[in-house]
Amino acid sequence: MHIFETIFRNGIVANHDGVKEADIGVQNGRIAALGDLSRAADETMVDCKGLHVLPGVIDTQVHFREPGLTHKEDLESGSRGAVLGGVTGVFEMPNTNPLTTTREAFDAKIAAGTNRMHCDFAFYVGGTHENVSELRELEKLPGCAGIKVFMGSSTGSLLVQDDDGVEAILSAITRRAAFHSEDEYMLEERKDLRIPGDPSSHPVWRSPEVALNCTKRLVALARKTGKRIHVLHISTGEEIAFLADHKDVASVEVTPHHLTLDDTSYARLGTFVQMNPPIRDKSHQDKIWAGVSSGVADILGSDHAPHTLQEKQHPYPMSHSGMTGVQTLVPTMLNHVNAGKLSLERFVDMTSHGPNRLFGIVRKGRIAVGYDADLTIVDLKRRKTITNDWIASRAGWTPYDGITVTGWPVGAIVRGHRVMWQGELVTPGIGQPMLFSEALTG
Ligand code: DOR
Repeated sequence: MHIFETIFRNGIVANHDGVKEADIGVQNGRIAALGDLSRAADETMVDCKGLHVLPGVIDTQVHFREPGLTHKEDLESGSRGAVLGGVTGVFEMPNTNPLTTTREAFDAKIAAGTNRMHCDFAFYVGGTHENVSELRELEKLPGCAGIKVFMGSSTGSLLVQDDDGVEAILSAITRRAAFHSEDEYMLEERKDLRIPGDPSSHPVWRSPEVALNCTKRLVALARKTGKRIHVLHISTGEEIAFLADHKDVASVEVTPHHLTLDDTSYARLGTFVQMNPPIRDKSHQDKIWAGVSSGVADILGSDHAPHTLQEKQHPYPMSHSGMTGVQTLVPTMLNHVNAGKLSLERFVDMTSHGPNRLFGIVRKGRIAVGYDADLTIVDLKRRKTITNDWIASRAGWTPYDGITVTGWPVGAIVRGHRVMWQGELVTPGIGQPMLFSEALTG
């Protein structure tokens, strides 16, 4: 009789092959068999009866703030929030202090995350005017998710606002690069539209045209240089319509907050929903949902961007932009699945298959033999209220505090290890850098 290290038994597996009952046999941290394993033995059995087993959810946009801003978050606390929320892998952003723009800064982050973070990880390198000539080498480093460019300024000092600067970066690299797409020149011109003390003026200042104009410039530059771009956190209906015509060069990220919150939230939550690009009115939200249904949206990223209560409470516009999200991505989106806004298969498509397909993550993002046994195990029927005291982030708050959802993460499995099970951290600190097929060395 075949003996596996671990068998996840009796779960309903949601993968590329549909949603159906199957067992998953794990050997050496990888998926070794999939199907009816009732005749096989196991050293460890995890009973998944009544639960859905998804490929591990990969959150491709988080800000974990280490080094330099660790009063908001660090790699340990951020990744603890990830696994408590059922996320098994993250791509982390370069607007730390120092910025992740050099080999030294990148290596230091890999060292700080390895066997300390709770999930597997990759770090983006920030593209700047100064480091263009090094980017081709940097984007190939093991554990590098690629190059990230801020075309509009947000938290931190990373900024490449000009077409020449973006063109130079795109020309230098070969992998898909990620962009914060808001037009810095327009943001500068429109600054006076911010009304002191009124965060609902944030989307007026950072208008749909500011986002669309930048995305048009960016797509033109991608075409000119023949490179692939990943447009982060799409916030407007206009960009969804525009990007539908440019799927050959552009991939599209949408976020749970743009799909869940709208401008009516400013009255209740004020600066706590201040985010770049901003939360807008329902008409944009509806069109972003249409992008989810139509397939224009490739990926769901949380843009987890923690700031302390105090930093959020400064009077607008001194209040910091950003909110936590990595821990609430799975529950808020499963609630949308239960409400019929998207299918479970489409959720898996955007949080596992999408990252695998766009970024070529080695052995991650699919439940298939030979892949890492990264699994997100969920109870689709569990009703629970999200609360601030559940949030592991150093920031300690969520815009969804007090919201009851249906659908909850029960387990986060990383390379066969139960890292989180039933809300408890079971196997801490086994995080490893992810590898990418376009950057394999040897
Ligand atoms: O609101 C935001 N906050 N948007 C970003 O792009 C950056 C983020 C942060 O790092 O705080």
